[in-house]
Amino acid sequence: KLLTVSLLGLAMAAGTAQARDYDHVRIGVDVPYEPMEYRTPEGELTGFDIDLGNALCAEIGVTCEWIEQEWDGIIPGLMSRNYDAIMSSMTINDERRQTVLFSDPYFTPPSAWFAPTESELSEATRETLEGLTIGVQRGTLQDNYVTDMFGDVASVSRYSTADDMVLDMQAERLDIVFLDYPVGKATLLDSERRDYQVVGEMITEPKEYFGDGFGIAFRQRDEALAERFNEALATLKADGTYDEIHERYFGE
Ligand code: ARG
Repeated sequence: KLLTVSLLGLAMAAGTAQARDYDHVRIGVDVPYEPMEYRTPEGELTGFDIDLGNALCAEIGVTCEWIEQEWDGIIPGLMSRNYDAIMSSMTINDERRQTVLFSDPYFTPPSAWFAPTESELSEATRETLEGLTIGVQRGTLQDNYVTDMFGDVASVSRYSTADDMVLDMQAERLDIVFLDYPVGKATLLDSERRDYQVVGEMITEPKEYFGDGFGIAFRQRDEALAERFNEALATLKADGTYDEIHERYFGE
C-alpha cells in the first residue's frame, strides 16, 4: 500500500499523471530579439511576443512569468520544467512538433537576407554567396537552412544570441546575415549605425525549413493548457486586441 502511494506521488511529480491545471504559467523566452522580445532602456521587458503573451494570460486569467533562456537550450528548458511554455518567435515545424505541442500560429513573417548597402549584393544564391561569411543564430531554422544550402560554399558563423550576430555585422565581421525579417528590419535597417538592405526576395519556402508561422510551444501532454491559449488567441483576434498590439510594433 505504502509503495503504491509513493509511486503515485512520484508519477505525479514527474508529470506522468493528469496534466495539472495552471494558474501561474512560466514562459521561456530568448531576449533580445527586437522587436519581438527586448528590454527598454529602463530595463522593462517588452515586444510583440511579450505584449501578446501578457494579453493572452490576462484573457485566460492566469499570472504569467517570463523566464529568460538562450535559444539553443529553450526546448530542453521546457522539457525539464524550468517553464511551462515557450513564446519566443518560435516557428512551428515538423521537426519541433516531434518534441513539443504548438498553439495555432499567431504571426507569420518571412525570413530575409540583410547586407550592407555598399556590398551591392542583389541576390543571395550559391554563386553570389560563395566565399562570404554568413551570420545566423545557432539552432534556428535559419541556421538549418543556411547550413544545408550554403554550408559547403560559404562560411557559416553561428551565434548564441541574435544580438551578438548584429554586433558582429556592425563591426564588419560578417558579410551577410539571414534571420526573421522583422528582427533584421528593427536591428539593422532601422539602426543609424550603417546602411543595410534586404538582399533578394523574402523567403518562406520550402516549408520543411520555413514552417507554418510562429507558435507558442507546450509540453505534449499539456493539451488543455494549449487549448486555453488557442481560445484566448481567437478572442484577441476577434476583439481587436491582437491588431492593436500588431500596430504597436509593425504599424507604419
Ligand atoms: N523563428 C526562428 C526559429 O524558430 C528564430 C527564432 C529565434 N527567437 C529568438 N527569440 N531568438 O527558428
